[in-house]
Amino acid sequence: MDVAIETKGLSKYYGKTMALAPLNLSVKKGEILGYLGPNGAGKTTTIRTMLGLIKPTSGRAEIFGVESQKDTTEAHKHLAYIPGESAFWPNLTGEETLHLLGSISGQVDKKYKEKLIKRFQFDPSKKVRTYSKGNRQKINIIAALMTRADLLVMDEPTAGLDPIMEQAFRESALEAKANGQTIFLSSHILEEVEALCDRVAILRHGRLVELGTLEEMRHLSALNIEVTFTATPPKIDHIAGVSQVHVIGHQLTCQLRGPIEPLLRVFAAHNPQTLLSREPSLEELFLSLYGDEEVRKGK
Ligand SMILES: Nc1ncnc2c1ncn2[C@@H]1O[C@H](COP(=O)(O)OP(=O)(O)OP(=O)(O)O)[C@@H](O)[C@H]1O
Ligand SMILES: [Mg+2]
Repeated sequence: MDVAIETKGLSKYYGKTMALAPLNLSVKKGEILGYLGPNGAGKTTTIRTMLGLIKPTSGRAEIFGVESQKDTTEAHKHLAYIPGESAFWPNLTGEETLHLLGSISGQVDKKYKEKLIKRFQFDPSKKVRTYSKGNRQKINIIAALMTRADLLVMDEPTAGLDPIMEQAFRESALEAKANGQTIFLSSHILEEVEALCDRVAILRHGRLVELGTLEEMRHLSALNIEVTFTATPPKIDHIAGVSQVHVIGHQLTCQLRGPIEPLLRVFAAHNPQTLLSREPSLEELFLSLYGDEEVRKGK
């Protein structure tokens, strides 16, 4: 069996509010799947229903073939979960908290735990209530990673981490992948998703609107082109697939969907000096999906 998570028509309504429309999603064993969407898109709802922590309105989810609603304990045997929000015991130290979380999960790679504590520069001797937000988040991350569970489900794991710790997280996620573990990663940090994920799923108002590799998504989107000429750039608005044409002095920028040849023929006839063509970053893809709407809503 090569599937780690499978949801079938999994949905969640709160009264009339649709938090998650029926979702069919497969996460393959060994992959890192990025799960993206703006605030309120339904990421946490997906994770919590998928893991059997809240009851879906319809559908079901299987974790390594075990139905998470029917047999939640069994479904959780091979996974570690980093919740988006967590309440710890304020009077325990970091070490005691990790120990407790480790005994709940029942499997801890002690050597790896020590390595993680060093990597995340975490001081486990203090009381939890004295930790900063970032340090509390490190407890979540270390507790999940130290189990070496086959499946890691992470709800915005790097929220509150500084850039150095973010780097430590990326290193650990890639280490987990190299170790054959599967990662479901909900994130707002597009650079992180771009750096780590094999496939990306994008949610909007509770609906899955995109799913694929970054390469596949980039092909659906426009190419950014920048050309400089020795004189005024040629007119290109009439060429199929061209949009967003801007000219400043001798420089022209535009976007292109579809074949590049007709555009290059026009450029070539006008003595081009430099040409740069770039596929969009995940951030550009994301903004093109949401940008207008968020601006309209005044967010
Ligand atoms: N217990 C609840 N009762 C009512 N509505 C809820 C409840 N939990 C979530 N919702 C609603 O469901 C929708 C999805 O919320 P969810 O927390 O899954 O979003 P999210 O993508 O995780 O957002 P964020 O990026 O802010 O964490 C939102 O409209 C939210 O208001
Ligand atoms: Mg959330």
